[in-house]
Amino acid sequence: MRLSVIGTGYVGLVTAACFADLGHQVIGVDRDEERIRALQAGRSPIFEPGIEELLARGAEHRRLRFTTDTAEAVRESEVIFITVGTPSLESGDADVTAVAAVAETIAESLRDYRVIVEKSTVPVRTGERIRDQIMLLTGGSVPFDIASNPEFTREGSAIYDFMHPDRIVIGVTSERAERLLRDVYRPFDCPILVTNLATAELIKHASNAFLAMKISYINAVANVCERVGADVKLVAEGMGHDARIGRAFLNAGVGYGGSCFPKDVAAFVRIAHEAGYDFRLLQEVARVNEGQRELLIRHLKDALWVLSHRVVTVLGLAFKPNTDDMREAPSVCVIERLLREGAQVRAYDPVAEPNARRLLPSVAYYDEPYEACRGSDAVVLLTEWEEFQRLDLMRLRSLMRRPVIVDGRNILDPAKARAHGFHYAGMGR
Ligand SMILES: NC(=O)c1ccc[n+]([C@@H]2O[C@H](COP(=O)([O-])OP(=O)(O)OC[C@H]3O[C@@H](n4cnc5c(N)ncnc54)[C@H](O)[C@@H]3O)[C@@H](O)[C@H]2O)c1
Repeated sequence: MRLSVIGTGYVGLVTAACFADLGHQVIGVDRDEERIRALQAGRSPIFEPGIEELLARGAEHRRLRFTTDTAEAVRESEVIFITVGTPSLESGDADVTAVAAVAETIAESLRDYRVIVEKSTVPVRTGERIRDQIMLLTGGSVPFDIASNPEFTREGSAIYDFMHPDRIVIGVTSERAERLLRDVYRPFDCPILVTNLATAELIKHASNAFLAMKISYINAVANVCERVGADVKLVAEGMGHDARIGRAFLNAGVGYGGSCFPKDVAAFVRIAHEAGYDFRLLQEVARVNEGQRELLIRHLKDALWVLSHRVVTVLGLAFKPNTDDMREAPSVCVIERLLREGAQVRAYDPVAEPNARRLLPSVAYYDEPYEACRGSDAVVLLTEWEEFQRLDLMRLRSLMRRPVIVDGRNILDPAKARAHGFHYAGMGR
């Protein structure tokens, strides 16, 4: 089928590359010319494992191309996916300006029937708004359908997730749109849930908020564990064996970050409020999350007494492993706090450094973890990159001025760290 994907960020690029790999003809569109130039040259503007291979295959089989021209993509595709960003506004509402701009450009270029699919995470009823605006602009002269097809991939394993979804959700208002979207997803062997637009939109809000809630729940439990001498990791394991609960998303730590959970929880609270429901449960989820940053700083202060003039090495900057995405990464808030309190901050991350430099220019960046720790007063682990699980603790101990580890992701074995002479503080252990 002929598809286009408008917005080639973390979601759009993976969507475009995977659809092309499945045999569709795909046009990826972005308004960012530099991004499109890089993609036309076969370079990925984001770090996502496996993406460059998919881009190369797409180009080789002439199934994937990139342009800045939305009108051309609309002319040449049967189905148009919108995957532009929907960041948070100050109020917590999602900023749908980019979605509205794309809808307008689509309306201006619409000549034949098209299915216009919102894949961006948008407030419930955005689909209706897109439809109303396109109707206003076209005067109803061209038939079209709006559909909602929320995306559930995780950065860092987005290609695998896209190719092996647990389910596909399609919100539609016509059989024609349903048929076309079923054709798009024909290669997939998973449940396809067909709903109306609002239900599909709400499934995404409800899913992300639920996952964030699981994280905040275990973080709240971690706070109790610290007070009573229990180990939250084992508590999570004990809970996780229960099929009704499940072990996933029960990792206590410095809290969730990234481009989705913080903004999607805030947006869901606002959506519920607008609809007349006070979603206090989710407000508390966000509050518990912020508290985890504070807890980590408290652990650091317990070990170092004061932070002023202490040299603190942060290992891990990205909001999670296998991505270079720094949006709402806990590292940003933790490092800003350390700098405010007068600490000297050094940092190492295997891939996120270029993005981190833009946000945190006064940090000293290193190419590898051990040099970053030489002479430092404490190590703070903020991203669970696999390489940090294999840190040579003996070597680390010999390099550091004070043997302090604050493990914001509970990735090290406390007994082993202590046996190497470290003051070790995890989260809820
Ligand atoms: N990042 C994730 O893992 C993830 C997962 C599921 C859902 N989502 C949702 O998907 C959406 C996109 O997220 P993302 O992380 O890919 O965002 P992103 O910021 O990485 O990418 C958005 C892209 O859209 C482009 N863009 C903006 N306005 C445009 C316009 N008018 N025309 C063409 N291109 C335009 C930007 O230049 C950018 O490249 C968001 O709503 C997000 O909540 C993200």
